[in-house]
Amino acid sequence: MRGAGVPYRLTVLGTGYLGATHAACMAELGFEVLGLDVDPDKIARLQRGESPIWEPGLETLLRKHVGSGRLRFTTSYEEAAAFGDVHFVCVGTPQKQGEFAADVSFLDQVVDSLAPHLDRGCLVVGKSTVPVGTAQRLAARLRELAGDHVELAWNPEFLREGFAVDDTLHPDRIVLGVTSPKAEMILREVYAPLGDVPIVVTDFPTAELVKSAANAFLATKISFINAMAEVCEATQADVKLLSKALSYDERIGGRFLNPGLGFGGGCLPKDIRAFMARADELGADQALSFLREVDAINMRRRARMVDLARDMVGGSFRNRVVGVLGAAFKPNSDDIRDSPALDVAVKIGQEGGAVTVYDPVALDNARKTQPTLGYAQSALDACRDADVVLLLTEWQEFVDLSPHALGEVVAVRNIVDGRNALDAPTWREAGWIYRALGRPQ
Ligand SMILES: NC(=O)c1ccc[n+]([C@@H]2O[C@H](COP(=O)([O-])OP(=O)(O)OC[C@H]3O[C@@H](n4cnc5c(N)ncnc54)[C@H](O)[C@@H]3O)[C@@H](O)[C@H]2O)c1
Repeated sequence: MRGAGVPYRLTVLGTGYLGATHAACMAELGFEVLGLDVDPDKIARLQRGESPIWEPGLETLLRKHVGSGRLRFTTSYEEAAAFGDVHFVCVGTPQKQGEFAADVSFLDQVVDSLAPHLDRGCLVVGKSTVPVGTAQRLAARLRELAGDHVELAWNPEFLREGFAVDDTLHPDRIVLGVTSPKAEMILREVYAPLGDVPIVVTDFPTAELVKSAANAFLATKISFINAMAEVCEATQADVKLLSKALSYDERIGGRFLNPGLGFGGGCLPKDIRAFMARADELGADQALSFLREVDAINMRRRARMVDLARDMVGGSFRNRVVGVLGAAFKPNSDDIRDSPALDVAVKIGQEGGAVTVYDPVALDNARKTQPTLGYAQSALDACRDADVVLLLTEWQEFVDLSPHALGEVVAVRNIVDGRNALDAPTWREAGWIYRALGRPQ
């Protein structure tokens, strides 16, 4: 194993949203990196320096380091095992079908595929988000299959899609779940080029729980303000002003306090559910029962959005044209996993509305999973002849839309701002009926 002045060679196992970003950023830090995935199409694209996902700055890094030869990709575990001193595991941990629990079988597959080829000392580092207890189980499996010269560490990832490259190169903290000083030393060396970043060294369960707790907290903050939105709706108060007033309190802060359609994506929803499921197994279910409500508030926002839109078109979507702005679960991403925007669009389609969706980058992904919806290549085309326009993902392009230009193409100037992203007076002055979640009519 290299080290002590000779840089480690890194592999990244699983090159999706997390892994592709991690691989490119580790190459940017100066390491030789080999990325591996079981999806040959993804690997073929990555080998050409193309990003399989839309993530600001990622393709530039991929091209740069595939070009320099510092970053390569493969589908061969044998090659990865021979190459790597440190193996980062970045495979998915999706929600199990019909259950709250996380499906960790991809992690088991990685260990089972890699371990038989590991014939020298190395460190395997889990980055995926997992139920507490997973690392200990995988460490035992790894030891059993590969022997004592191979060690496991857990290093949860906190990057945000849309800022993934920047977050990886400038993390606000690094958590290292380790069981030996050697593993800690190796990971400190790997992350040394990042400079002065706070590092918290923990045991396995604490490292796993930090990630679950962070996501639970963020989800709770979003659902808190959306619960306030529900109360505002019942009292004709304005949740946007309420949130603004709260944000000046330094103990509360304004981030993640924007009322709207709520959270989605490949992380928060499945992570809070997996956290509840694991707490259940551990007999600690009472401690997390509040997350059930956090989840329920979040899902109610989607239903409320559909209700508002239906209300604006006269009580039924039949024979009504609906223009939907946004498909991605949040701006600056093409990720449509558990996207609130698509969920709302689909529900309205199921109620008979003629829905046309536009998103700056997520249209291809949306079309693949929801082929029955209509799609357009621009915001204006999506809203042509619309009886109501719904803003469901707060892309800057939508915030910058001219209410006059949009007003020219719609049938009726009705808009529901699902993200509280538009300036209500400007739209009302331009003749629109503007409504938003949690705000007075
Ligand atoms: N996406 C994020 O913003 C983010 C942030 C922090 C943590 N995470 C966590 O990181 C993990 C990965 O998330 P993601 O969004 O990148 O998922 P993803 O679905 O985009 O990527 C997972 C990749 O793993 C590959 N894979 C599956 N089985 C494999 C195997 N046996 N060997 C090699 N590759 C295999 C898949 O083909 C896919 O490319 C999850 O646990 C997630 O919760 C994600």
